[in-house]
Amino acid sequence: MSKLQPVSMEAGHFNVRDKKKFAKGLAMIKESLNCGGATLFSSDNMILWNKNYSMLREKAYAEYISDEQIDIVPKTIIWRTYVLDFLLKRSLQVDGNIIELGVLKGDTAMFLCNQNAEMLKDRIFYLIDLFEWNQGDIHTKHRSLLDKNLYTKVQDRFGKHKFIKVIQGDAEDILPRINIDKIAFAHIDMNDAVPELFSLAFLASKISRGGSIIFDDYGWWGYSEQKLELDKKLNDLNLDILELPTGQGIVLF
Ligand SMILES: C[S@@+](CC[C@H](N)C(=O)[O-])C[C@H]1O[C@@H](n2cnc3c(N)ncnc32)[C@H](O)[C@@H]1O
Repeated sequence: MSKLQPVSMEAGHFNVRDKKKFAKGLAMIKESLNCGGATLFSSDNMILWNKNYSMLREKAYAEYISDEQIDIVPKTIIWRTYVLDFLLKRSLQVDGNIIELGVLKGDTAMFLCNQNAEMLKDRIFYLIDLFEWNQGDIHTKHRSLLDKNLYTKVQDRFGKHKFIKVIQGDAEDILPRINIDKIAFAHIDMNDAVPELFSLAFLASKISRGGSIIFDDYGWWGYSEQKLELDKKLNDLNLDILELPTGQGIVLF
């Protein structure tokens, strides 16, 4: 029996104050390992070794992370995207539409659409976002949110996927206005506890059995106010959540 060829990947990390020291530490970690770094995964605040990294062995993922047109952040969060892709495929076995709350440029959603276009074609995939940041706003000030044309750019970007509906506005205003009675899959990624809590309360009764909600920020200490609020609500709803090393929180229905 033969072993798989080792694979490794290094991309970005968040919340690092001293990048030089971090790089030095990582170099020392590699030196200390049996594999010398041949099986190292260092990305998205995870440093792992001696793992198989199944997604990196799939053609679509391997091409994605080596595509020079793609920014460092979507590459950095590749493991989160892999989790989403897996759960979306599973959720598409049941009835209902798809929703992403917190879209930004649509990088993650685009990968999921490209991967699952055939299975999505008879559903509606809602992409809901404020598509702006104004002085005093609580949600994270991403550079792309300062682009006044972001909403139109995202609409144009998804033009080829007819099952996509891009909607601009606050999730708390938009959700009650769109006619969604059944949801198969929801990705909630707004970096703000208030709309996330509202969305959980609003969507929970609409998720089909076999469907799922994935909270992008649930396991991140920097957003731990979200975890505190969501845990109380999940407990009231009698739902369990699984925190992953990616920082995602998974709720299966
Ligand atoms: C981290 S980004 C989303 C990234 C995206 N999911 C991806 O993976 O590429 C967070 C987004 O949430 C949006 N957002 C924050 N608060 C919101 C709210 N109350 N309603 C709708 N969108 C909101 C922001 O405008 C921002 O684009």
